[in-house]
Amino acid sequence: MEKKNKTLGEFIIENQSEFQYSTGELSKLINAIRLAAKVVNHEVNKAGLIDILGEAGDTNVQGEDQQKLDVLANEKFIQALRKREIVCGIASEEEDDFITINSQDENHQNKYVVLIDPLDGSSNIDVNVSVGTIFSIYRRVTPVGTPVKLEDFLQPGKNQVAAGYVVYGTSTMLVYSTGHGVNGFTLNPAIGTFYLSHPNMQFPETGKIYSVNEGNYVHFLQGVKDYIKYCQEEDGDRPYTSRYIGSLVSDFHRNMIKGGIYMYPKSSVTQNGKLRLLYECNPMAFIAEQANGMAIGGKNRILDIVPTELHQRVPFFCGSKKMVEKLQEFLDKYH
Ligand code: AHG
Ligand code: MN
Ligand code: MN
Repeated sequence: MEKKNKTLGEFIIENQSEFQYSTGELSKLINAIRLAAKVVNHEVNKAGLIDILGEAGDTNVQGEDQQKLDVLANEKFIQALRKREIVCGIASEEEDDFITINSQDENHQNKYVVLIDPLDGSSNIDVNVSVGTIFSIYRRVTPVGTPVKLEDFLQPGKNQVAAGYVVYGTSTMLVYSTGHGVNGFTLNPAIGTFYLSHPNMQFPETGKIYSVNEGNYVHFLQGVKDYIKYCQEEDGDRPYTSRYIGSLVSDFHRNMIKGGIYMYPKSSVTQNGKLRLLYECNPMAFIAEQANGMAIGGKNRILDIVPTELHQRVPFFCGSKKMVEKLQEFLDKYH
């Protein structure tokens, strides 16, 4: 008999009961993200055509300039979540402050807040290289029916109820976890349906890939420099292979499939590294741990950090467990 792949829609329904407080709300939320991912996928795919269409006089109805894709992705995700009235608040890398949904409505019973990096790796758009979207979901800590507060967003990553990413690559995939492992779905663009293509994704225990912007080497702390040298030494399964796309989502995705470590350390010029704790590191750390990987910021586990501000940056090291543990040994020697 022909094997039938499950669709994301079917998977969401089947797994709804797995979720501790299930009222269907989280399922609706993942559904809204699925929809927004398809819309953004469509925009990303025609990014290279914009100038050509423009030349042909095909401007949009308002005659406006084409928006930057990260702004557009931000709008699409916020719109999808706002219209369906399924969250009480949204925070985005592209917004200065968090957005309150339906704060005036006393009966507003939605329990979840969403945090997003609508377009990750945006500098890669102009050169036709994979980009992504990252999302993170928490239950609010303030009472239902009141406007959300900053503290609803500033929760440690271990409180996440779900997190995921979309990678707009050679195929578009949505990968997410609700705390019961990690599953990946591939979009069939012809019919606009995501299919379960990568059930129960796991980081290999160890790997041979290290991913870091080595151009910054001179600014790194000694522990990181020594680990990079270790990766390059000839011994056993080393030297490792260096792979760095510059889109966290894509670098992470590859390393989860093949085995590897991603590093964005602090340096003498960027005290806290570059990546954002709430929109990038926490969701990726949640997925990594759910996939038998590991994510640290130095001595500490990423998911234990108590955030102090929305756009906080932290150093980030994430990937196959044995590789992250090895790196930690090097870091511990100095700091
Ligand atoms: P964003 O496009 O959301 O600003 O994120 C870019 C991030 C991340 O995706 C990537 O790994 C990193 O920046 C690359 O930074 P460098 O160019 O400094 O290596
Ligand atoms: Mn990003
Ligand atoms: Mn971004």
